[in-house]
Amino acid sequence: MENSITIAVVGKGGTGKTVVATILIGLLAKRFPGSVLAIDADSASSLPYTLEMDVERTVSRLRSDVAGSRDIQDEYRHVSSKDMMRTLLAKGDGFDLMVLGRPEGAGCYCAVNDLLKLGITLLSGDYRVTIIDGEAGPEQLNRRVVSKVDLLLVMCDMSIRSLRTAKEIMNVATSEHGEGVNVAQAGIILNRVRGDEPEYKALANTGLRVLAQLPEDPCINQYDREGRALLDLPQDCPSRQEIERMLREIIPEY
Ligand SMILES: Nc1ncnc2c1ncn2[C@@H]1O[C@H](COP(=O)(O)OP(=O)(O)O)[C@@H](O)[C@H]1O
Ligand SMILES: [Mg+2]
Repeated sequence: MENSITIAVVGKGGTGKTVVATILIGLLAKRFPGSVLAIDADSASSLPYTLEMDVERTVSRLRSDVAGSRDIQDEYRHVSSKDMMRTLLAKGDGFDLMVLGRPEGAGCYCAVNDLLKLGITLLSGDYRVTIIDGEAGPEQLNRRVVSKVDLLLVMCDMSIRSLRTAKEIMNVATSEHGEGVNVAQAGIILNRVRGDEPEYKALANTGLRVLAQLPEDPCINQYDREGRALLDLPQDCPSRQEIERMLREIIPEY
Protein backbone atom coordinates (compact mmCIF):
# COMPACT_ATOMS: atom_id res chain seq x y z
CA MET A 1 0.00 0.00 0.00
CA GLU A 2 1.70 3.19 -1.13
CA ASN A 3 0.35 5.52 1.56
CA SER A 4 0.84 3.20 4.51
CA ILE A 5 2.24 4.84 7.64
CA THR A 6 3.88 3.58 10.84
CA ILE A 7 3.24 5.23 14.20
CA ALA A 8 5.45 4.18 17.13
CA VAL A 9 4.59 5.06 20.73
CA VAL A 10 7.69 5.14 22.93
CA GLY A 11 8.79 6.61 26.28
CA LYS A 12 9.64 5.81 29.87
CA GLY A 13 7.71 2.99 31.61
CA GLY A 14 4.33 3.96 33.03
CA THR A 15 3.96 7.17 31.00
CA GLY A 16 0.90 5.95 29.11
CA LYS A 17 2.26 4.28 25.95
CA THR A 18 -0.22 1.41 26.06
CA VAL A 19 -3.16 3.72 26.83
CA VAL A 20 -2.33 6.00 23.90
CA ALA A 21 -1.60 3.09 21.54
CA THR A 22 -4.98 1.59 22.46
CA ILE A 23 -6.88 4.83 21.84
CA LEU A 24 -5.06 5.23 18.48
CA ILE A 25 -5.90 1.65 17.47
CA GLY A 26 -9.60 2.18 18.30
CA LEU A 27 -9.86 5.48 16.41
CA LEU A 28 -7.84 4.41 13.37
CA ALA A 29 -9.63 1.04 13.09
CA LYS A 30 -12.90 2.98 12.81
CA ARG A 31 -11.44 5.28 10.16
CA PHE A 32 -9.58 2.56 8.19
CA PRO A 33 -11.43 -0.66 9.10
CA GLY A 34 -9.46 -3.85 8.38
CA SER A 35 -6.39 -1.82 7.44
CA VAL A 36 -4.80 -1.32 10.85
CA LEU A 37 -1.95 -3.44 12.19
CA ALA A 38 -1.34 -3.21 15.94
CA ILE A 39 2.01 -4.39 17.30
CA ASP A 40 2.61 -5.08 20.98
CA ALA A 41 6.41 -4.72 21.00
CA ASP A 42 6.71 -4.71 24.80
CA SER A 43 7.88 -8.00 26.29
CA ALA A 44 5.93 -7.08 29.44
CA SER A 45 2.87 -7.31 27.24
CA SER A 46 -0.23 -5.33 28.25
CA LEU A 47 -1.83 -4.29 24.96
CA PRO A 48 -3.93 -7.49 24.72
CA TYR A 49 -5.52 -6.56 28.08
CA THR A 50 -6.41 -3.00 27.12
CA LEU A 51 -7.77 -4.35 23.80
CA GLU A 52 -9.48 -7.22 25.66
CA MET A 53 -8.04 -9.91 23.41
CA ASP A 54 -6.65 -13.35 24.13
CA VAL A 55 -3.45 -13.98 22.22
CA GLU A 56 -1.72 -17.33 22.53
CA ARG A 57 0.55 -17.25 19.53
CA THR A 58 3.26 -14.67 20.06
CA VAL A 59 6.51 -13.91 18.23
CA SER A 60 8.43 -15.36 21.21
CA ARG A 61 6.40 -18.56 21.12
CA LEU A 62 6.97 -18.96 17.37
CA ARG A 63 10.69 -18.49 17.86
CA SER A 64 10.92 -21.10 20.64
CA ASP A 65 8.71 -23.56 18.72
CA VAL A 66 10.79 -23.26 15.57
CA ALA A 67 14.10 -23.36 17.44
CA GLY A 68 13.04 -26.31 19.59
CA SER A 69 11.28 -28.75 17.29
CA ARG A 70 12.37 -30.44 14.07
CA ASP A 71 8.71 -31.22 13.27
CA ILE A 72 7.75 -27.58 13.45
CA GLN A 73 10.76 -26.62 11.31
CA ASP A 74 9.50 -29.12 8.71
CA GLU A 75 6.00 -27.72 8.96
CA TYR A 76 7.25 -24.25 8.02
CA ARG A 77 9.71 -25.44 5.35
CA HIS A 78 7.36 -24.71 2.45
CA VAL A 79 5.72 -21.66 3.95
CA SER A 80 6.96 -18.17 3.02
CA SER A 81 8.29 -16.00 5.84
CA LYS A 82 5.36 -13.65 5.30
CA ASP A 83 2.79 -16.43 5.65
CA MET A 84 4.64 -17.69 8.73
CA MET A 85 4.38 -14.24 10.35
CA ARG A 86 0.72 -13.99 9.29
CA THR A 87 -0.09 -17.03 11.44
CA LEU A 88 0.59 -14.79 14.47
CA LEU A 89 -2.10 -12.24 13.63
CA ALA A 90 -5.06 -12.09 16.01
CA LYS A 91 -8.26 -10.53 14.63
CA GLY A 92 -9.70 -7.54 16.46
CA ASP A 93 -12.60 -5.26 15.54
CA GLY A 94 -11.22 -3.55 12.41
CA PHE A 95 -7.57 -4.33 13.14
CA ASP A 96 -5.06 -7.19 13.41
CA LEU A 97 -2.76 -7.63 16.39
CA MET A 98 0.72 -9.17 16.61
CA VAL A 99 2.26 -9.65 20.06
CA LEU A 100 5.97 -9.97 20.91
CA GLY A 101 5.47 -11.90 24.15
CA ARG A 102 8.07 -12.75 26.72
CA PRO A 103 11.22 -14.38 25.31
CA GLU A 104 11.69 -17.85 26.81
CA GLY A 105 15.16 -18.76 27.99
CA ALA A 106 18.28 -16.68 28.40
CA GLY A 107 19.94 -15.08 25.42
CA CYS A 108 17.13 -15.28 22.89
CA TYR A 109 16.01 -11.68 23.25
CA CYS A 110 17.88 -10.54 20.13
CA ALA A 111 16.53 -13.39 18.02
CA VAL A 112 12.97 -12.65 19.10
CA ASN A 113 13.37 -8.94 18.32
CA ASP A 114 14.83 -9.86 14.91
CA LEU A 115 11.75 -11.99 14.24
CA LEU A 116 9.50 -9.10 15.33
CA LYS A 117 11.38 -6.83 12.93
CA LEU A 118 10.81 -9.35 10.13
CA GLY A 119 7.09 -9.38 10.94
CA ILE A 120 6.79 -5.58 10.92
CA THR A 121 8.84 -5.29 7.71
CA LEU A 122 6.89 -7.95 5.81
CA LEU A 123 3.38 -7.13 6.99
CA SER A 124 3.08 -3.39 7.57
CA GLY A 125 2.97 -2.59 3.83
CA ASP A 126 -0.37 -4.45 3.62
CA TYR A 127 -2.03 -2.02 6.04
CA ARG A 128 -2.88 1.67 5.89
CA VAL A 129 -1.59 2.22 9.42
CA THR A 130 0.75 0.27 11.71
CA ILE A 131 0.74 1.24 15.39
CA ILE A 132 3.58 0.03 17.59
CA ASP A 133 3.27 -0.03 21.40
CA GLY A 134 6.97 0.04 22.17
CA GLU A 135 9.23 -0.97 25.00
CA ALA A 136 10.16 1.47 27.77
CA GLY A 137 13.77 2.17 26.76
CA PRO A 138 15.42 3.05 23.47
CA GLU A 139 16.70 -0.53 22.94
CA GLN A 140 14.35 -1.46 20.10
CA LEU A 141 15.20 1.73 18.27
CA ASN A 142 18.85 0.99 18.96
CA ARG A 143 18.46 -2.45 17.39
CA ARG A 144 16.45 -0.95 14.54
CA VAL A 145 13.53 -3.27 15.27
CA VAL A 146 11.58 -0.36 13.91
CA SER A 147 13.70 1.20 11.19
CA LYS A 148 11.23 3.50 9.46
CA VAL A 149 8.75 5.53 11.50
CA ASP A 150 6.43 8.13 10.02
CA LEU A 151 5.31 9.42 13.40
CA LEU A 152 7.29 8.85 16.59
CA LEU A 153 5.14 9.70 19.61
CA VAL A 154 7.29 10.13 22.71
CA MET A 155 5.21 9.82 25.88
CA CYS A 156 6.16 11.99 28.85
CA ASP A 157 4.48 12.54 32.17
CA MET A 158 5.34 15.78 33.92
CA SER A 159 8.53 14.34 35.44
CA ILE A 160 12.03 15.45 34.51
CA ARG A 161 12.98 11.79 34.25
CA SER A 162 10.49 11.09 31.48
CA LEU A 163 11.76 14.14 29.60
CA ARG A 164 15.32 12.84 29.98
CA THR A 165 14.24 9.47 28.61
CA ALA A 166 12.63 11.35 25.70
CA LYS A 167 15.96 13.02 25.01
CA GLU A 168 17.81 9.67 25.15
CA ILE A 169 15.30 8.11 22.79
CA MET A 170 15.75 10.94 20.31
CA ASN A 171 19.54 10.65 20.59
CA VAL A 172 19.31 6.98 19.66
CA ALA A 173 16.77 7.54 16.91
CA THR A 174 18.81 10.24 15.25
CA SER A 175 22.21 8.77 16.09
CA GLU A 176 24.94 9.52 13.62
CA HIS A 177 26.64 6.24 14.46
CA GLY A 178 25.27 3.50 12.26
CA GLU A 179 22.15 4.10 10.24
CA GLY A 180 19.85 5.92 12.64
CA VAL A 181 16.14 5.31 12.48
CA ASN A 182 14.34 6.93 9.61
CA VAL A 183 11.90 9.16 11.53
CA ALA A 184 9.78 11.48 9.39
CA GLN A 185 8.06 13.27 12.26
CA ALA A 186 8.44 13.13 16.04
CA GLY A 187 6.79 14.86 18.96
CA ILE A 188 5.89 14.61 22.61
CA ILE A 189 2.58 13.67 24.13
CA LEU A 190 2.44 15.16 27.63
CA ASN A 191 0.32 12.91 29.80
CA ARG A 192 -1.49 13.33 33.10
CA VAL A 193 -1.32 17.12 32.95
CA ARG A 194 -3.11 18.52 35.98
CA GLY A 195 -2.92 22.24 35.43
CA ASP A 196 0.80 22.26 36.27
CA GLU A 197 3.48 23.37 33.88
CA PRO A 198 6.22 21.11 32.51
CA GLU A 199 9.90 21.88 33.27
CA TYR A 200 10.39 24.03 30.18
CA LYS A 201 14.16 23.76 30.08
CA ALA A 202 14.06 19.95 30.07
CA LEU A 203 11.25 20.06 27.53
CA ALA A 204 13.19 22.39 25.22
CA ASN A 205 16.23 20.15 25.65
CA THR A 206 14.41 17.24 23.98
CA GLY A 207 14.25 19.30 20.78
CA LEU A 208 10.68 18.10 20.30
CA ARG A 209 7.40 19.92 20.05
CA VAL A 210 4.36 18.95 22.09
CA LEU A 211 1.75 17.38 19.81
CA ALA A 212 -0.89 16.71 22.45
CA GLN A 213 -1.57 17.18 26.16
CA LEU A 214 -3.73 14.62 27.93
CA PRO A 215 -5.29 15.38 31.31
CA GLU A 216 -5.43 13.09 34.29
CA ASP A 217 -8.50 11.41 32.87
CA PRO A 218 -11.37 10.16 35.05
CA CYS A 219 -12.65 7.93 32.17
CA ILE A 220 -9.31 6.10 32.02
CA ASN A 221 -9.25 5.76 35.82
CA GLN A 222 -12.75 4.32 35.84
CA TYR A 223 -12.13 1.89 32.95
CA ASP A 224 -8.86 0.83 34.63
CA ARG A 225 -10.61 0.11 37.91
CA GLU A 226 -13.34 -1.90 36.21
CA GLY A 227 -10.85 -3.73 33.96
CA ARG A 228 -12.72 -2.61 30.83
CA ALA A 229 -11.21 -2.42 27.34
CA LEU A 230 -9.87 1.07 26.70
CA LEU A 231 -11.01 0.70 23.08
CA ASP A 232 -14.55 1.68 24.06
CA LEU A 233 -13.78 4.98 25.83
CA PRO A 234 -16.80 7.25 25.32
CA GLN A 235 -16.67 9.99 22.69
CA ASP A 236 -16.65 12.79 25.25
CA CYS A 237 -13.66 11.34 27.12
CA PRO A 238 -11.05 14.17 27.12
CA SER A 239 -8.01 12.02 26.24
CA ARG A 240 -9.80 10.46 23.30
CA GLN A 241 -10.86 13.91 22.05
CA GLU A 242 -7.33 15.28 22.33
CA ILE A 243 -5.89 12.34 20.38
CA GLU A 244 -8.56 12.76 17.70
CA ARG A 245 -7.58 16.43 17.42
CA MET A 246 -3.91 15.43 17.05
CA LEU A 247 -4.74 12.86 14.34
CA ARG A 248 -6.74 15.42 12.36
CA GLU A 249 -3.74 17.72 12.47
CA ILE A 250 -1.18 15.10 11.48
CA ILE A 251 -2.94 12.66 9.12
CA PRO A 252 -4.60 14.65 6.34
CA GLU A 253 -7.08 11.88 5.42
CA TYR A 254 -8.15 11.28 9.01
N1 LIG B 1 -4.20 10.33 31.20
C1 LIG B 1 -4.36 9.35 32.12
N2 LIG B 1 -5.30 9.45 33.08
C2 LIG B 1 -5.44 8.48 33.99
N3 LIG B 1 -4.73 7.35 34.03
C3 LIG B 1 -3.78 7.17 33.10
C4 LIG B 1 -3.54 8.16 32.10
N4 LIG B 1 -2.54 7.72 31.30
C5 LIG B 1 -2.16 6.51 31.80
N5 LIG B 1 -2.90 6.18 32.88
C6 LIG B 1 -2.76 4.95 33.67
O1 LIG B 1 -1.39 4.83 34.06
C7 LIG B 1 -0.96 3.48 34.04
C8 LIG B 1 0.26 3.31 33.12
O2 LIG B 1 -0.14 3.53 31.79
P1 LIG B 1 0.38 2.58 30.60
O3 LIG B 1 -0.29 3.02 29.35
O4 LIG B 1 0.24 1.14 30.97
O5 LIG B 1 1.93 2.99 30.60
P2 LIG B 1 3.13 2.36 29.74
O6 LIG B 1 2.56 1.52 28.65
O7 LIG B 1 3.90 3.55 29.21
O8 LIG B 1 3.97 1.58 30.71
C9 LIG B 1 -2.17 2.67 33.60
O9 LIG B 1 -2.86 2.16 34.71
C10 LIG B 1 -2.99 3.69 32.86
O10 LIG B 1 -4.35 3.35 32.78
MG1 LIG C 1 2.81 -0.51 28.15
